[in-house]
Amino acid sequence: MKAALADEDGVLLENFMRESVEPAVSGSTVAVCLINLTTGELVVSNLGDSHVILAERDPKTEYPYHIRRLTQAHKPEVPSEEARIREAGGTVEKRNGITRLGELQLNPS
Ligand SMILES: *[C@@H]1O[C@H](CO)[C@@H](O)[C@H](O)[C@H]1NC(C)=O
Repeated sequence: MKAALADEDGVLLENFMRESVEPAVSGSTVAVCLINLTTGELVVSNLGDSHVILAERDPKTEYPYHIRRLTQAHKPEVPSEEARIREAGGTVEKRNGITRLGELQLNPS
């Protein structure tokens, strides 16, 4: 997952350098699911406000009966997320009344 997201980050950076500032001024969001069909293990990952929703089917009726969200949005106005951003070297600021990510540390040590 890390390698796939790093690859995509590279594509966006290249796009930013060659074509458009769009990747630098818009937000990021992604949700990824990996399922090992042998073990039934499910691994989910998300960034921003994309979510993974799990709907289990009732084997008798085939209809979804247990639906739940497996991920939480990363919102800079949530205190724990703001703390995480600051700890990673980023900044959080309010623009036009909206809490936004200020700066990102591009080369964390
Ligand atoms: C799924 O789990 C099995 C048993 O642990 C493992 O041998 C297999 O490599 C896993 N598959 C993938 C794609 O990781």
